[in-house]
Amino acid sequence: MLIVFIGPPGAGKGTQSARLADHLAVRHLSTGEILRHAVEENNIVGQEAAPYLERGDLVPDDLVVGIVAERLAQRDCQAGALMDGFPRTPGQAAAFDKHLAKTGRALDAVIELRVAREELLRRLMTRKRADDSAETISHRLEIYIRETEPILSYYKTRGVLHTIDGIGTLDQVFSRILAAVNSRAR
Ligand code: AP5
Ligand code: MG
Repeated sequence: MLIVFIGPPGAGKGTQSARLADHLAVRHLSTGEILRHAVEENNIVGQEAAPYLERGDLVPDDLVVGIVAERLAQRDCQAGALMDGFPRTPGQAAAFDKHLAKTGRALDAVIELRVAREELLRRLMTRKRADDSAETISHRLEIYIRETEPILSYYKTRGVLHTIDGIGTLDQVFSRILAAVNSRAR
């Protein structure tokens, strides 16, 4: 089971994908969390990623593709994984496809969480993560529109895209996601 979560900053990717991962008993893989952890550890990946995270820019494709490929090859991801925040550029989507073909795995679904800008800002301004300043949030939003939204049509064409209204209570949004995942033609 491989499911990708796509959505702007604050859409609820982390919240909902972690919950779905528990529900399906598969791994939750957040590239943002992996990178923040590397920055905290100040390891080689962290040192390369830190300035990008600070500005709200995407880290280079090669770096994140390498991290994901390595992580997916590990034992705890053999039953599947919920990808939170990857892929998020056309280059990453293409590299991910190649990786899946090479390892004989298939992408089951892409969940797009859609939330209006005012609500995203409201959510993030109350959260206080290091990259949640007003300036960085609006930069992350711009990057999302420019770099990530274009890959939605790619997944739509392949019939794996489920667009979910991300506004409502956590339970309401989760039920919508569950309904979409359960509706997949097998
Ligand atoms: P990442 O960590 O992925 O951050 P993001 O995309 O900016 O998204 P967030 O984590 O801020 O939001 P979310 O959608 O997970 O929402 P959440 O559940 O937390 O990436 C961070 C950085 O890492 C990037 O800027 C980039 O530098 C780098 N990076 C990561 N992946 C990369 C990649 N593939 N390529 C290159 N660079 C990469 O919810 C937000 C808040 O809202 C929470 O407080 C939550 O409690 C609340 N909330 C959630 N749902 C609801 C609801 N239904 N109602 C009310 N409040 C809610
Ligand atoms: Mg997140």
